[in-house]
Amino acid sequence: MKSGSASVDNRLNRRSALVPTGSGMVGIRALKKIWMDGQLVDWDDAKVHVLTHGLHYGYSIFEGIRSHDTPRGAAIFRLHEHIDRFFNSAKVYRMKLPYSMEEIEQACVDVVRANGVPTVYLRPVAFSGYGEMGLDPTKSPVQVAVGEWEWGAYLGQKGVESGVRATVSSWVRMDSRMLPPQAKCAANYANSALAKMEAVVGGYEEAILLNSQGMVAEGPGENIFRVKHEIVSTPPASSGILRGITRDTVIQFLRDEGLTFQRTDFTREELFTADELFYSGTAAGITPIREVDGRPIGTGDYPIVRRLQRRYENAIHGGNPEYDAWLSYVDAKAAPARRVPTVARAR
Ligand SMILES: Cc1ncc(COP(=O)(O)O)c(C=O)c1O
Repeated sequence: MKSGSASVDNRLNRRSALVPTGSGMVGIRALKKIWMDGQLVDWDDAKVHVLTHGLHYGYSIFEGIRSHDTPRGAAIFRLHEHIDRFFNSAKVYRMKLPYSMEEIEQACVDVVRANGVPTVYLRPVAFSGYGEMGLDPTKSPVQVAVGEWEWGAYLGQKGVESGVRATVSSWVRMDSRMLPPQAKCAANYANSALAKMEAVVGGYEEAILLNSQGMVAEGPGENIFRVKHEIVSTPPASSGILRGITRDTVIQFLRDEGLTFQRTDFTREELFTADELFYSGTAAGITPIREVDGRPIGTGDYPIVRRLQRRYENAIHGGNPEYDAWLSYVDAKAAPARRVPTVARAR
């Protein structure tokens, strides 16, 4: 092999396997650009110092958003609601973001456009940067970035189709007296990671976390819904969950499907006795749960999940004009500026 091609190979390896691939892991394929501190920079230049404050103390808030292909080009799903939550997370943590909501929304659109890949997962992140150490993060400058990568269904396409095996975690979801679960802060994900690793080591695909009252809260990175006798329920925000935007979308779909819906706490044993259970999340989409701790859920058919999945696929791909206001088209000519007819954000 010529030395020139060896170095190209090395560079490709470095760029395309930033994360080791293996069971359940993804390799990030390098794209072209990342938005960082106010401008688009080359992928390999989006770097921070190892003494970056947020890396040490978890003072970092972030979002997970998806863009999908539609007949009018790439469209970001519920961008405004995600950036609204981003700002709310910052507010909880006294983090002063040096950009407006409009600027971060525009950064998301710019990143998708610059990379030229319509189907991506976007990651706005704000963190205490390099400058100071110690436990008062407000002494460090806030840095903001928007990256993106290609990411399939988080719990696998097979999971979306056939359901995943879940286990109730021995780790308890932290409540808002410990760490506010409604703020999407990196620190929360230490709790999620413990639950996820325990599930995977135990041979399951995903965890279900109970809250400190022993009621069902959510998955490590997903909300959870239960169907019993055609009544669909999900734990309320007060159960210590992230108020998912997909959860909100599902709630709207349930109304549009004419199904009975309630926000209510439920117990571990009510997981086992459900007719259907499913996770919702930007990363996971709508993924049925086929088994909890060795107990099969329902009959293995997911009639309500299937209705919701169909609606979701249609909505994100611009196939249902009813939900068009949820799409931010990346090509400005594709659609007029949209404003949000947000529905079920309460509780
Ligand atoms: C802990 C947790 N719960 C729920 C969700 C689902 O939220 P969303 O539907 O906004 O992606 C996520 C994903 O962001 C999460 O991390």
